[in-house]
Amino acid sequence: MTTATNALAGDRTPETILVAVAWPYANNHLHAGHLAGAYLPADIFARYQRMRGNRVLMVSGSDSHGTPVTVRAEQEGTTPEAVFQRYHQSFLDTWDGFGISFDIFTSTDTPNHIKVAQDFFLRLRERGYLYEAEQELLYDPVAQRFLPDRYVEGTCPRCGAEGARGDQCDNCGSTLDALELINPISKLSNATPERRASSHFFLKLSAFTEQLQAWIGGKEHWRTNVRNFTLGMLREGLKDRAITRDLTWGVPIPLEGYDDKRIYVWFEAVIGYLSATVEWAASEANPTGNAEAWRDFWTSDTSRTYHFIGKDNIPFHTVIWPSMILGHGDLNLPYDVPANQYLTMGGTKASKSRGGVIWLPEYLERYDPDPLRYMMTANAPETSDSDFTWTEFVRRNNDELVARWGNLVNRVLTITGRNFDAAVPAPPADLSPESRALIERCDEAFEAVGNDFDHVNLRRGLTAAMEVAQAANQYLDARAPWSAVKTDRDHAAETLYVALNVISGLVTMLHPVLPFSCAKAWTMLGHSGDVEAAGWQRTPVLPGTPLPAPAPLFKKLDDAVVAEEEARLGS
Ligand code: MF3
Ligand code: ZN
Repeated sequence: MTTATNALAGDRTPETILVAVAWPYANNHLHAGHLAGAYLPADIFARYQRMRGNRVLMVSGSDSHGTPVTVRAEQEGTTPEAVFQRYHQSFLDTWDGFGISFDIFTSTDTPNHIKVAQDFFLRLRERGYLYEAEQELLYDPVAQRFLPDRYVEGTCPRCGAEGARGDQCDNCGSTLDALELINPISKLSNATPERRASSHFFLKLSAFTEQLQAWIGGKEHWRTNVRNFTLGMLREGLKDRAITRDLTWGVPIPLEGYDDKRIYVWFEAVIGYLSATVEWAASEANPTGNAEAWRDFWTSDTSRTYHFIGKDNIPFHTVIWPSMILGHGDLNLPYDVPANQYLTMGGTKASKSRGGVIWLPEYLERYDPDPLRYMMTANAPETSDSDFTWTEFVRRNNDELVARWGNLVNRVLTITGRNFDAAVPAPPADLSPESRALIERCDEAFEAVGNDFDHVNLRRGLTAAMEVAQAANQYLDARAPWSAVKTDRDHAAETLYVALNVISGLVTMLHPVLPFSCAKAWTMLGHSGDVEAAGWQRTPVLPGTPLPAPAPLFKKLDDAVVAEEEARLGS
């Protein structure tokens, strides 16, 4: 019975997988949209791959540069450095609270990152992919300075939406040049900006259109929207883009005479995926102690890089960063970019600038992490935007986590504890057909759920696992061990033994999504060690194993939570 799943876990060469997650701007706390868009799917995927015995490195860091950070500093009358430090600490606490299992979460404000980014810049320049040219830029005559892209707003030249920023239109997703905006205004002074020439470095994106087309042609496993969006950009043809700015906060240009300019935030932030891997390899966290170990993730033919990002970051990860990698000449291109769509909050995009968001540090003051992890996976914006409502959160918590899964565990452990001296009962020599069928169903689900997780269909994988829990409840209800125990003890023993084993399988299958509660359930099943190390297979629960006293895995939430939280959202 277990041979199929054992074969799944053993007998395979471990794969090398880089889980590279978008670097959040360190200008505010993280909100639910961040979690649903990138951090939670990355974590579930990484946890699953680790359980499969693969070599996984999950990297990211705070994006400490860029106008989101400088705008915030100006508003507060403080330095960008102070803003970045504050939110970097907040991010680390949030990862801890939600169990987002980074191998390294660093920042773009480290000497290592600055060096790796500058080396990358110089290498592209030597290879002929960076050139200097005069560029017209928007200049604010009132504030007397060049305007960074995000300091300019106007009408989108592609879709006509108002409020497009100088770098991107949130409405149609196009990346823009601030000069293209119709009726631009400066966010610094509300003045109409004028054009002024300044000398800048340009990335020769136009050189890569065909190579990128060929590369993406082979990416049939990509999400349709990510692939189509990218193909559309390539069809229009790529234009060279300036990758330096007239600023003083950011990575310095490693050449003489550019003191008042910096490398553009997007150009250096994507290099963070590489610099973080380099930093990890040289750190104590690297068990091999080999500082060159970063190469296994970046230059080996068999290593795969996944970028977990929100859909507004697609062009940077499927066009610009890949072009930079091609220009570098010695690094792996991404294997997949499973970008998520938006999480809306009662119909509007979860954007931190507009209010109406769930701040993750605040959430953690009131609730456990697993219910939100569950909700956001069950309702993940994988193929279209998905809407978060507190009504649905309470419903999923109460009906699915508590009633379907938590009560299954609790019922079985409680009845066993009371009637079988708190030890796993022995089954009969031959299991009945329905018992065998349920165990087989559980063991087979490892393959289906694993396949879904491996293809980043996390929502479907979770649904498939929860269907096994549902089948276990039906089995339990049909065999009613709570009454059978008085009339046919062997019958009850078999039921509980089978249920405990299926629960053990489910604890493993659900662990990537629900790491906190599954770690507790693992101990309650009498298992030692940790569930992640036990691998992607059902760990058998053996007769006679003593069972510790069970405690509920989840808390039922009162309906009043809905009104309370909705009031908070509105305020
Ligand atoms: N800071 C950007 C954002 O929050 C994401 C940067 S991702 C990276 O939208 F690739 F540039 F690192
Ligand atoms: Zn637009």
